[in-house]
Amino acid sequence: MAEHVLITGASAGIGAALAVEMAGRGFDVGLIARREELLREVAERVRARGQRAAFAAADVADQAALARAFASLEADLGPIEVAVANAGVAGSPDVQNLDLEAVRRLHEVNFLGAAAVAALALPGMLARRRGRLAVISSVAGYRGLPRSGAYCAAKAAASVFFESLRVDLRGSGVTCTVVEPGFVATAMTAERKGRLPFLMEADEAARRIARGVLAGRRRVVFPRRMALIMRVVRALPDWAYDRLVARRPDHK
Ligand SMILES: NC(=O)c1ccc[n+]([C@@H]2O[C@H](COP(=O)([O-])OP(=O)(O)OC[C@H]3O[C@@H](n4cnc5c(N)ncnc54)[C@H](OP(=O)(O)O)[C@@H]3O)[C@@H](O)[C@H]2O)c1
Repeated sequence: MAEHVLITGASAGIGAALAVEMAGRGFDVGLIARREELLREVAERVRARGQRAAFAAADVADQAALARAFASLEADLGPIEVAVANAGVAGSPDVQNLDLEAVRRLHEVNFLGAAAVAALALPGMLARRRGRLAVISSVAGYRGLPRSGAYCAAKAAASVFFESLRVDLRGSGVTCTVVEPGFVATAMTAERKGRLPFLMEADEAARRIARGVLAGRRRVVFPRRMALIMRVVRALPDWAYDRLVARRPDHK
């Protein structure tokens, strides 16, 4: 029987592309998201590649529902070899209307939803002394970007949390990879106005994620030029950063 990769946010975008990519690499795929009809279609694409697929509709912010989804996918496809916390939403509230509910929701999905994947996947992986855990965070977590406070903060939290897990997991047989993409062409970026420098197709992003996670890499950042730019941006002093983003208001 093939190994089981479980992906949250697998109904669309990067998660759906990753599901198909992992099937192409010989994995059976467990799919979680809220939209069941889309999950069904992605499952068909996985099966078309000769692998088994199972799906369970759940909101990653609902811990009990997520736990039920994990149990159902493990019952269908066996123990989880690779768990990818990918589910995410954009849309930070703006400074004139700092709606705390919107801030909370972004954290519940992008950060706590990812932490919940770790909490559910790790006990089995640690008992088996094998497994690969990954989070799809973002280079947006490197700094507080304009009009994106809640998103940036949730992604910063996700990156740092999974980095800490990686250190804690040393010697356990379980690897932990932090993935930090730049712009990828999905519904999330389609909503955005303005330039999207170095925009990458979701299939290409999925290939890079699969390669990095399966190799047990600590961190996967792409596209390369965006990674370089964001590394420099992160190192800028505050006064220089403020000037830069004042002139270029359309990052994410
Ligand atoms: N696109 C980019 O440029 C970019 C860049 C850096 C990082 N990322 C990150 O990559 C990940 C995937 O984003 P994407 O670009 O592929 O976006 P997308 O096309 O909008 O897909 C988001 C996925 O997450 C799922 N999702 C959202 N909220 C959920 C919830 N509460 N519970 C369960 N599933 C949920 C959606 O499914 P349902 O709606 O069916 O639940 C969908 O499958 C996100 O974490 C995002 O922050 C994206």
